[in-house]
Amino acid sequence: MSTTIGANQRVLSGMRSSGRLHLGNYHGALKNWVKMQHEFECFFFVADWHALTTHYDDTSQIETDVWEMVIDWLAAGVNPKQATIFVQSMVPEHAELHLLLSMITPLSWLERVPTYKDQQEKLKERDLSTYGFLGYPLLQASDILMYKAASVPVGEDQQVHVEMTREVARRFNFIYGREPDFEERVAKAIRNMGGKSAKPYKAARKAYQETGDEAALARGHELVSTHGSLTVADRERLIAHLEGGGRQILVEPKTLLTAVPKMPGLDGQKMSKSYGNTIGMREENDSVQQKIKRMPTDPARVRRTDPGDPGKCPVWDFHKIYSDAETREWVDKGCRSAGIGCLECKKPIIDAVIAEIEPIRERAVIFAENHDLVKSIVQEGSEKARAEARKTMDDVRQAMKLNYS
Ligand code: TRP
Ligand code: SF4
Repeated sequence: MSTTIGANQRVLSGMRSSGRLHLGNYHGALKNWVKMQHEFECFFFVADWHALTTHYDDTSQIETDVWEMVIDWLAAGVNPKQATIFVQSMVPEHAELHLLLSMITPLSWLERVPTYKDQQEKLKERDLSTYGFLGYPLLQASDILMYKAASVPVGEDQQVHVEMTREVARRFNFIYGREPDFEERVAKAIRNMGGKSAKPYKAARKAYQETGDEAALARGHELVSTHGSLTVADRERLIAHLEGGGRQILVEPKTLLTAVPKMPGLDGQKMSKSYGNTIGMREENDSVQQKIKRMPTDPARVRRTDPGDPGKCPVWDFHKIYSDAETREWVDKGCRSAGIGCLECKKPIIDAVIAEIEPIRERAVIFAENHDLVKSIVQEGSEKARAEARKTMDDVRQAMKLNYS
């Protein structure tokens, strides 16, 4: 499901630790994070345990990868005053939730996640017939459910993981969300609403339960959420009663699809480290220039005088991201009529990429030279995240009747 979300809602997203980032990561996710931190309560984290699911045999790079990635986040403008930045393994509660959820997650849910078989195929040289690799999406579900996130901004490839997260939350709430005296507590909560709200609430519930009337469901939600004097627990019970399920302990998140034009790599394929077609977020100007100059163009343009077709040229994909309508018009005309040469055509791209990267690279240098600052940002963020995680785990343990210690 993909919808818009309201203000004051919590957003959570993560990236597996992969070291320095490239422009594909920047345009595909980071730029959007920077924007969202002003609009929502954001939690952004480094999924270092997720890196282990495929690279368990060589862990020597993990620590460097974590710090380098955080430096790129900060350099791109993710602001620790606006967003909580943390590292997964610094909040060990994620492992506990993962374990508890593993008890109720059918094996078939994990086996049918398409990325499971796809990645095994793609990374044939690795032995991925491990328990950890199969559990990848469930660890991701734990990351998300831990913060009761309303939405999760991710790219298309991650959508199925969020979808599975919703199913896991629903199953958890169904199994553990029923209090023994639920009906009595609901009756009491309805009395607490007072007649003026209780009556329309009951009518809305009846209409929704009997006919699936979505407008009635929305009315019911409205009545409960705008009521001035209900406790949080009563609110949750009334919502559960309205929807016909158990009390909502874990929150089903929405996917917030990041709407960005596909960032192509230097060769026209998707930009990806494994294809060796990237421009790094901290790439030096000379190197940017060299890389773009060497980019292949429409193969029909053998000689300067041969006309070309931008649709068959990876440089055109860059113009779609970096150039305004006027420049694109100039490219289109000039290419088709052989009025401009390919090097000429690449010039505005080189300028635009350098203009984008230069300030990022300069900020990155400052953070890279101040490791203590980066560390303290992450430590502080992880403490903040951990406080939230502890609250969720209290709820979870209570619901599972494991709160006897
Ligand atoms: N699987 C994500 C990726 O490969 C990283 C990730 C881990 C994540 N846990 C998450 C993303 C929770 C969003 C929410 O990029
Ligand atoms: Fe590609 Fe530009 Fe050359 Fe046309 S002129 S082939 S769009 S680089």
